[in-house]
Amino acid sequence: MDRIRIVGGAKLHGTIPVSGAKNAALPLMIASLLTPETLTLENVPRLSDVRMLKRILGNHGVDITVAGKRLGDREDDGETVKLTAGSIVDTVAPYELVSQMRASFWVVAPLLARMGEAKVSLPGGCAIGTRPVDLLLMALEKLGAEIEIEGGYVLARAPKGLKGGEIDFAKVTVGGTHTALMAAVLAHGTSIIRNAAREPEVGDLARCLVKMGAKISGIDTSVLEVTGVGSLKGAHHRVLPDRIEAGTYAFATAMAGGDVTLTDVQPHLLQSALDRLSDAGATVTTTENSIRVSRNGNGLAAVNIETEAFPGFPTDLQAQFMALMTKAQGTSRITETIFENRFMHVSELARFGAKIRLDGDTAIVEGMPVLKGAPVMATDLRASVSLVIAALAAEGETMINRVYHLDRGFEQLESKLQRCGAEVERIRG
Ligand code: UD1
Repeated sequence: MDRIRIVGGAKLHGTIPVSGAKNAALPLMIASLLTPETLTLENVPRLSDVRMLKRILGNHGVDITVAGKRLGDREDDGETVKLTAGSIVDTVAPYELVSQMRASFWVVAPLLARMGEAKVSLPGGCAIGTRPVDLLLMALEKLGAEIEIEGGYVLARAPKGLKGGEIDFAKVTVGGTHTALMAAVLAHGTSIIRNAAREPEVGDLARCLVKMGAKISGIDTSVLEVTGVGSLKGAHHRVLPDRIEAGTYAFATAMAGGDVTLTDVQPHLLQSALDRLSDAGATVTTTENSIRVSRNGNGLAAVNIETEAFPGFPTDLQAQFMALMTKAQGTSRITETIFENRFMHVSELARFGAKIRLDGDTAIVEGMPVLKGAPVMATDLRASVSLVIAALAAEGETMINRVYHLDRGFEQLESKLQRCGAEVERIRG
């Protein structure tokens, strides 16, 4: 298993191009199941989750080609992926595949909408709480699906097709909103989705569906109205930049010190995170498509955060912000309101000498002047990158084990940091 070795202390200077968003690429790829025509996606990040989803979609009969690099393309330019679901050869998504990545459960909606049936294993994914799918199934039932659960599989049927309905989410759910959208676009009649997630990745999916011929209004708001159409066509779409990757490198720069410009990014998609970073004392300036973060000399101030659905502080940046606060001056309170049990990084951060106490859904972080490098273990996707952030500012060497979690969500992490002067290397094995 690969490991990552980091020697802390180097300041970061340079430019980091931000990749396409994993959390947008996955539902966009799944949307290819809705049409027999070709969906071309640009700026798809090269990540293990994307590779896994290609296998899952291939199993359903989606023909996938990846366009080669053109002369002059940068090393870190994303892939162009063409997906053609000419005919769906299998409406079963098996346990072996779905258990490795939760988002693959979302295939249930397009399979059901297009084929009238789907059999999809209950999901796995990051161990950050129980993460049920009750709201996703409720949404499908509201559109007329019959749902049964048998032997760890969800059997969804709508032999006469789905019909428009009203879906009122009791809780904001990104996966639930993706599911409702992908089901409603091919349903007979009009659907209303209330308390829809406003995360930018939901908007990105909706915009791509509109290019494919779907009728959706209220995009980026919490009420979506979808009028079903008989069929969808192919389209061309560029995946939105990864706001979580951008926020991660912004925090890393504040932690290590230095001056880094993030490019190919949409700063307004992570405004709440950038605001908290400024509160902590980093200098943050933005243009329409770049973010510059610097911290020279001064220490960081302790700042409290509470995770919230968009546009609030994202849960996917909570672990990284906690890493930053381990060296701040004073005590910060970090409250997680989206997922239970999303504090697995606390015990690993303690290995650097961080002082963190848990009180229910809140972590109380007492900033320390010095962190010390240590052997640590990646436990889930975002938790693992919080260890990278701590290691960049820790004295001495850190060895991060189980980095396959990082490879699920961060494209070329080592080279992006190396080019800014960090001492980071991957040890294959
Ligand atoms: C997506 C993101 C993930 C992010 C999360 C919240 C992807 C691939 N993953 O995950 O990175 O952390 O949004 O922004 O895009 N819930 C239920 N019942 C359900 C569905 C969800 O109770 O049927 C709960 C969850 O347990 C959680 C909350 O709702 O407490 C939000 O989950 P949700 O927004 O659905 O997360 P995901 O779509 O799985």
